[in-house]
Amino acid sequence: MKLFKALVPLKKHLDQQNLTSLGLVPTMGALHDGHLALVRKAVEENEKVVVTIFVNPTQFDDQKDLDAYPKTLEDDLEKLACFGEKIAVYAPEVEDLYPKEAVSEHYDFGELETTMEGGSRKGHFQGVATIVQKLLKGFMPTRAYFGEKDYQQLAIIHALVQQKELPIEIVDCPIVREKDGLAMSSRNRRLNEKQRAIAPQIYSLLTQVVEKKHTHSIEEINRWVTAFFEQQAEFELDYFCIADARSLQPLRDKNTTQNARAFIAVKMGEIRLIDNVKF
Ligand code: PAJ
Repeated sequence: MKLFKALVPLKKHLDQQNLTSLGLVPTMGALHDGHLALVRKAVEENEKVVVTIFVNPTQFDDQKDLDAYPKTLEDDLEKLACFGEKIAVYAPEVEDLYPKEAVSEHYDFGELETTMEGGSRKGHFQGVATIVQKLLKGFMPTRAYFGEKDYQQLAIIHALVQQKELPIEIVDCPIVREKDGLAMSSRNRRLNEKQRAIAPQIYSLLTQVVEKKHTHSIEEINRWVTAFFEQQAEFELDYFCIADARSLQPLRDKNTTQNARAFIAVKMGEIRLIDNVKF
């Protein structure tokens, strides 16, 4: 495994190898088994894989959240070492990706970016699209790997690749969970003991939502979820929504599509957790 701090020498290193396929796994580091599942799949499917570790400033609307984001490069490199020679790691400083000013490009993703995370985190997806476009265009991989944990992000990235006509396959990877059901996230390590103990209730609530599919209307389910959180002092519900899996627009009638997902965002103190399941 080789570590690069700058894109130009890494590109040169890759170009020298006459690769038949290249996989790209963009991350913000603080790697856990969810990230490593993406890397494993990329290693299986490509001759060489670039894992990027970069906490992208333009996708944070809250400076405190950016400052608090865990930075654990040495640990991350140790976790990637087991993948051996097939991996190159790109872990740049801000200036390598934003040589002038760290600002977002402008994109139009329509309703895809105004709903859910887009409503709660202003400019977030403009920042995500900006950095993902830089990475995709910088490396022009055969395939790039993203997790369904950030389902809306995945939808934005599919739209980005289509809009920019990039000949890159976007590979959707399933959510990896802890044994107790909590979706793995770099943010989980910021939970205190009490919060961590009850955080799995988020997933257990989503599984109960799916169980109600045949017996309750969407309105009833929405009310049930709201009532659940009204009784919970540790959780603050940001949004819950059953939406079409493609358009991400909230559904009022469960019979309008076969392809729906349930999405949730909750805050536990300062920490914001998201999850989703097929409905
Ligand atoms: P980050 O949160 O580090 O996540 C990197 C990738 O890992 C994303 O595609 C995310 O969906 C995936 N991932 C995270 N937790 C997962 C889990 N439990 N199961 C499956 N996949 C999981 O998402 C970002 O970084 C950034 O927005 C990025 C795309 C790198 C752009 O800055």
